[in-house]
Amino acid sequence: MSEQKQQGTATLTVDGKSVELPVYAASVGPSVIDVRKLYAETGHFTFDPGFTSTAACDSDITYIDGGKGELLHRGYPIDQLAEKSHFLEVCYLLLYGELPSKAQLTTFEKNVTEHTMLHEQMTNFYRGFRRDAHPMAIMVGVVGALSAFYHDSTDITDPMQREIASIRMIAKMPTIAAWAYKYSVGQPFVYPRNDLDYAANFMHMCFSVPCAEYNVDPVMAQAMDRIMTLHADHEQNASTSTVRLAGSSDANPFACIAAGVACLWGPAHGGANEACLNMLREIGTVDRIPEFIARAKDKDDPFRLMGFGHRVYKNYDPRAKVMEQTAKEVLELVGTEDSPILQVAQELEKIALEDEYFVKRSLYPNVDFYSGIVLNAMGFPTSMFTAIFALSRTVGWIAQWKEMIGDPDQRIGRPRQLYTGATARDYVPVDDR
Ligand code: ACO
Repeated sequence: MSEQKQQGTATLTVDGKSVELPVYAASVGPSVIDVRKLYAETGHFTFDPGFTSTAACDSDITYIDGGKGELLHRGYPIDQLAEKSHFLEVCYLLLYGELPSKAQLTTFEKNVTEHTMLHEQMTNFYRGFRRDAHPMAIMVGVVGALSAFYHDSTDITDPMQREIASIRMIAKMPTIAAWAYKYSVGQPFVYPRNDLDYAANFMHMCFSVPCAEYNVDPVMAQAMDRIMTLHADHEQNASTSTVRLAGSSDANPFACIAAGVACLWGPAHGGANEACLNMLREIGTVDRIPEFIARAKDKDDPFRLMGFGHRVYKNYDPRAKVMEQTAKEVLELVGTEDSPILQVAQELEKIALEDEYFVKRSLYPNVDFYSGIVLNAMGFPTSMFTAIFALSRTVGWIAQWKEMIGDPDQRIGRPRQLYTGATARDYVPVDDR
């Protein structure tokens, strides 16, 4: 962290002793009070489980203004990127900081396309999983196993190896996810096709079979690309922080990204789109909405409106707006634009946005409110929803990991604790207890 960013100091008085703590300005958004010397000077830690008021790093990659409902990647608003750009260009932006020139984009796309195949021996690895394994269980294992297959890109001190590992993971993740799906439905693995773009190739690997021709519909491919773009990065969320913490010990990048996949799997993080779709199905028809709204407001009922509310966004999640439009396009294509699920979703959103309970608590739809509807209409089973989130978020994890490794201030992440256990006592032999 450079000294130029310092905008002032904060004074903290504890046990009658005052300490001056530097305050650093952000380019936009909240500044931070630097407490790194607090323990050495006062003997106290700060206490912030859940990191509600703690910045764990400085970063140039992604900015969220939760109050405004704004999400910027390297300064560019997500709605502009979703509408005018495409996933691999956004990958380049996240990784290298600027939008690519035409030539840079062509080279980057070629590099990614040429790394999409998995080592053939990995097919044996897949076959070791039980037939009914969850795609995310397979992904955690296979992504971690990449470090056993690609030894030449695990030395994190070599920038070239870091670069190769990054390209490999972005390129291979769709193949890993698609093969996890194929394995779970008992179909043969489908190899990637270099003539298709990133999103279309993923759909080809998921839905084509050797016995019939499969042409990826351009509307579907565009919807898939948009889902990937909308999920590409989201600053220091739980899985990204997990990747950074794993990487802070200098673990190899494949192991770090496997840690991110594991964290994303949890229903409080990547699993919410599945829960939201199940809820919309359970509501079923528009006339049942008031009953569910009442349940969501009842403090004695654990039910919550899935796809509503967010720790950071206290306004409409900008990704949800784009996703709603994508849902309409996809449902129109598959001929279910009048589907009861979309009707329920739109009516539920309308009612909730006007309801005092939701307005007072700033509970707006989040990205998961519509993404499950889209993925379901595209033909994906709910078990694949989080796997698709994981493959889309891989670039964000890698960009954040690379930023951390390149930071000269980087040290191993080692949180402290407020100890509340027993004080020192003598061991008692088992016969005397
Ligand atoms: N339905 C009904 N009430 C809600 C909801 C909801 N979905 N979300 C929050 N509230 C209420 C809470 O009961 C609480 O009310 P109170 O102040 O009267 O006690 C208030 O709003 C604040 O809620 P918190 O739980 O304190 O907010 P927090 O920031 O901890 O939680 C979370 C955020 C977990 C996303 C929550 O809103 C939720 O459970 N939403 C549903 C699940 C979901 O959609 N998750 C996806 C998140 S996006 C993502 O991960 C990609």
